[in-house]
Amino acid sequence: MEIRVISGDVTEVKASAVMVGLFEKVKNPDDYTATLDNVLGGTISQLMSQGEIKGKFGELTIIHSLGKLFAERVVILGLGKKQEFTLDKIRGVVAEACRFLQKKGIDDAATIALGVGVGGITPKSASQAITEGALLGLYSFRRHITKEPEYGEIKQLSIVANSEADISLLEHGRDKGKILAEAAKLARDMVNEPANYMTPGHMVKMAKQLAKDYDLELVVLEREKMLELGMGALLGVAQGSAQSPKFIILNYKENDSNEIDLALIGKGITFDSGGISLKPGRKMEEMKGDMAGGAAVIAAIAAISQLKPAINVTAIVPAVENLPGGRAFKPGDILTTMTGKTVEIISTDAEGRLVMADALCFVNKLKPKQIIDVATLTGACVVALGDVCTGAFSNNQELANKVVIAGAKAGELIWQMPMYTEYKELNKSDVADIKNVGDNNAGAITAAQFLAEFVGSTPWVHLDIAGTSMSNKERNYLVKGATGVPVRTLINLALAIAK
Ligand code: BES
Ligand code: MN
Ligand code: ZN
Repeated sequence: MEIRVISGDVTEVKASAVMVGLFEKVKNPDDYTATLDNVLGGTISQLMSQGEIKGKFGELTIIHSLGKLFAERVVILGLGKKQEFTLDKIRGVVAEACRFLQKKGIDDAATIALGVGVGGITPKSASQAITEGALLGLYSFRRHITKEPEYGEIKQLSIVANSEADISLLEHGRDKGKILAEAAKLARDMVNEPANYMTPGHMVKMAKQLAKDYDLELVVLEREKMLELGMGALLGVAQGSAQSPKFIILNYKENDSNEIDLALIGKGITFDSGGISLKPGRKMEEMKGDMAGGAAVIAAIAAISQLKPAINVTAIVPAVENLPGGRAFKPGDILTTMTGKTVEIISTDAEGRLVMADALCFVNKLKPKQIIDVATLTGACVVALGDVCTGAFSNNQELANKVVIAGAKAGELIWQMPMYTEYKELNKSDVADIKNVGDNNAGAITAAQFLAEFVGSTPWVHLDIAGTSMSNKERNYLVKGATGVPVRTLINLALAIAK
């Protein structure tokens, strides 16, 4: 889909449908909606007084213009209460409207720059949100469906500028929105891809292509190198699979120093069967998405290299498959991590913290200024926060605040969880330095405390996206399947740190 910015009279927009917004509880249409109401002979105000159009958030009303204006249809988007309006509502309502129009076979739509002037929303931010909403809401994963889709695609979306002066602001917003949305879509593609395609080796191939396209530096460590470095925890997890583990490092360098301003680490379990501690069959297919953290950091650094913030960023993905093969690691085994710390294996299904431990240790030796790790780490986090919020765990409040703010800006909700040292006790082992499963309770926190052992004093935030990386329903700009969370948060964070 091409998104363009145009100027001119809203009644003369050359598109098959033009979208305008309406807030809840307003008596009369204003702005563009009023202009269109006039041309349509008062249809909109009539429907409002009859109560058919309420302006409730997400309400969509289609009115056929029957030759009264160039566009054959006007779509009134309910924006909800004005005082509750946000950029994320723009993303959501535009996504719903685009899907609605696409299902009607419309291939050419236009929208005014919704919400400008309300609650600090600028032309640039509105245009960015419209772009993100349209691109993310119309996303679908059809790579393995051979049947033709039932309806065509919206090929063009035009954002109508209020004035000539707004054009470049809207274009800037559109350009930024496109980079963020395409990155989130890339992460969605990687997560939706089944594990027989998205192997550790395939993740390397994708990283290679991105490195080439966006001028990133790529280093891939193979098994021998990991052995040499002493990544015993990662290699332990990899033992049960025929797929070779890969340790992917992508560098975005704004300057020639080797200093890393921001390190991003993503869990890259390309399939999590649970290993010898085999998972139950129900929904096991969803574990193809256990590399969502890895996909997110790869997609984020690709976008960061396009936005060029003035910091050096490194993205790291330990990519491993967790299967119960004949060589697989077992409960009771003791693995030695890269730091030298030994880990008693209680469950081979708590594999994420093992590969992340070695990755954290590796990155810590590079002395980055701050570390963010992203992982589909625990079912316990899903129990605690559902699919609404990502869980955040940190040793540094200032950095945690920055991450939460970057998330809010993206519409990706993040909730910080406690890290009191009392929780650390639960990971104590009788036979090794630490064990890989704590208590039955507080599972998301004990997992985070496990990771904290390998971070030292570097400012660090761990994001548990087990609940937020996939959606089981279509809602606003999310569709069923991978969400692309927290790609846009990570990009916003890099931009904020560079400022
Ligand atoms: N990949 C899972 C966590 C997960 C669960 C992600 C649901 C997405 C949706 C992780 O490797 C895992 O299996 N964790 C175990 C840990 C337990 C054995 C301590 C869990 O949460 O059950
Ligand atoms: Mn697991
Ligand atoms: Zn896992």
